[in-house]
Amino acid sequence: MTDFTAKYKRYQDAFEDVLNRFYDKLNVTPEILAESLKYSLKLGGKRIRPVLMYAVGDLLGIESDKLDNFALALELIHTYSLIHDDLPDMDNDDFRRGKPSNHKVFGADNAILAGDGLLNTAYSVLFGECFKGDGYISAAKYICDCAGIEGMIAGQSADLLHENDRTVDKDVLDFIYEHKTAKLIMAAVMTPSILCGGKYYSELKAFALNLGFLFQLTDDILDVEGSFENLGKSIGKDSAEGKYTGVRLYGLSGSKVKADLLAENCFKLLEAPDGDTAFLRDTVNFVRQRIN
Ligand code: IPE
Ligand code: IPE
Ligand code: MG
Ligand code: MG
Ligand code: MG
Repeated sequence: MTDFTAKYKRYQDAFEDVLNRFYDKLNVTPEILAESLKYSLKLGGKRIRPVLMYAVGDLLGIESDKLDNFALALELIHTYSLIHDDLPDMDNDDFRRGKPSNHKVFGADNAILAGDGLLNTAYSVLFGECFKGDGYISAAKYICDCAGIEGMIAGQSADLLHENDRTVDKDVLDFIYEHKTAKLIMAAVMTPSILCGGKYYSELKAFALNLGFLFQLTDDILDVEGSFENLGKSIGKDSAEGKYTGVRLYGLSGSKVKADLLAENCFKLLEAPDGDTAFLRDTVNFVRQRIN
């Protein structure tokens, strides 16, 4: 195991403890509601948003327990976005995180409610943080805005609106990437910065934006040349659904060149903060080279 993999796993494990405490406190009836939302959460995934939040927290000197509930809320929001993204009336994906999608197991009706439930619970968790002080209120609002109608929802709306467009325009693709994907990455990276009064705010925001673009571009590349075994989701769906992707705009090899440029931007932006950015640089390489 490399130092990077070991540290990534330590952050993941710390976050699983947070999730386990969350499951222990759940007191939800009917049982199917609890089962359906736990089903998607427990399938795991990379947990890259919590990992990024803790890693930026370490860089800025924020204790992890101050971040636990923000990381929890963000992963609840991300998981809800995946459940709804897979619905038949959205991307119609049968698999997620290596298992049948939520709606394939519980039906679309229950999957909609599981997503709604995760989102509402995330807001409740964020409200709970607001009693702790002004920085917490600002961070909670930032996460809500990143998830909302000027954030991820706007990106999902544009993604659907532009399905089957005959041409691909860079400004539209950038809008989709920024909103549907980069916003939640920005929420992860900016929460620790906001909690310490906006430290390295503009540099970290630009870093997160570039990393978010890189993340979605590699997602688009993997939809063409990844494998179901590694990704845990169906391959070739983007072209089947007429999705507006980086691969359509840049081509496959052009997308890889663009991905390298985005990674370079991330590395340059990481030169600004004092402190050890090695893990964040390794995370950029991980996103660039990922197979899952
Ligand atoms: C998938 O997100 C949706 C995109 C934004 C591309 P992830 O690739 O982070 O999914 P999990 O959480 O690891 O399953
Ligand atoms: C999804 O983008 C982004 C969100 C869920 C907000 P995709 O539709 O490309 O993600 P996958 O490929 O289904 O994971
Ligand atoms: Mg989608
Ligand atoms: Mg999808
Ligand atoms: Mg995709």
